[in-house]
Amino acid sequence: MKRMLSGIKPTGQLHLGNYIGALSKFVEYQDEYDVIAFIANLHCITVYQEPNELRKNLKDCVALYLACGLDPDKSTIFLQTDIMEHAQLGFIMCCNTYLGELNRMTQFKDKQAKNEKNLTGGIYTYPTLMSADILMYDPDFVPVGEDQKQHVELCRDVAIRFNNKYGDTFKIPSPLIPKVGARIMSLQDPNKKMSKSDETNKGCIYLLEDLASARKKIMSAKTDSLACVKYDPINQAGIANLMQIMSSLSNKTFSEIEKEFENKGYGDFKKAVADVVCDTLANIQSKYNEIIKSNQVEIALEKGRIKAEKLAKEKLNQVQLKIGIEIK
Ligand code: TYM
Repeated sequence: MKRMLSGIKPTGQLHLGNYIGALSKFVEYQDEYDVIAFIANLHCITVYQEPNELRKNLKDCVALYLACGLDPDKSTIFLQTDIMEHAQLGFIMCCNTYLGELNRMTQFKDKQAKNEKNLTGGIYTYPTLMSADILMYDPDFVPVGEDQKQHVELCRDVAIRFNNKYGDTFKIPSPLIPKVGARIMSLQDPNKKMSKSDETNKGCIYLLEDLASARKKIMSAKTDSLACVKYDPINQAGIANLMQIMSSLSNKTFSEIEKEFENKGYGDFKKAVADVVCDTLANIQSKYNEIIKSNQVEIALEKGRIKAEKLAKEKLNQVQLKIGIEIK
């Protein structure tokens, strides 16, 4: 069985972009692949997080993995910090990544360009920890949204270099980017990615958001004056984004959506998008409400920890022997 691995940072609450671009895919693939889905809680402290808020987001993130349909009997679900080997392999990967490569990472460059204050060493070297997360488990594929593709490509380069230097150690993974929904955009600015750091909070829909508020955000999403539901991301970015959301959640193709709304206004189209989104959220939230009251989160994490730890110990041991930092 081929293996897939991916993770999500519990920075703030998970949103519709995380669900469409990543989480829903982990669920879709878990019958066909050996899915490893972890919570990247080390990655999220690369930017300051208020500790109590982080604790809550962390538990919510696992509960949402389960509520969205990840099954701990099929998939391996664990916390990054439960497997200490990630940080250790992370440092080893950091020592095998060049400054020039890190300087080319667009996420870091964007933060620098925005003149963000107090950028940490953690945010700069973050892709090296991500390489370790991936290479530790020899996955065939890494399902991620478009924004993470560059990091997976760096991981491949580092793995190839390591294998050339020390002999075959890591499987070379491929990023798996969904054809539709790989980059869900802000509802208020369809040229910007939907993101947890949305300043106005109007462009992002959270998985645990109140349904009336989610509906309102969709009904006031930015569109255009062309009055035509057509998939044209260049000239109609707002409508194209809503079509991506609808298509991902309902499995309708763009041409089916275009046909359905051929002679209808944007109000009707937005209402239909809001219905699909609210159905999805209602379903996730009712499961989440059950899970968060139970001990399912703790049980799933313990199951995952046991499976992941075995694989991680074997791989780190193999790596350390190869690079000569162990006496044997
Ligand atoms: P993170 O937490 O920013 O995002 C988690 C996943 O959600 C996808 N995503 C989106 N997809 C579509 N539209 C959007 N607007 C959108 N926003 C986010 C991301 O592409 C990602 O797949 N570095 C990673 C976490 C990580 C990881 C890993 C992933 C750490 N180690 C190893 C894969 C493998 C991150 O910050 O994702």
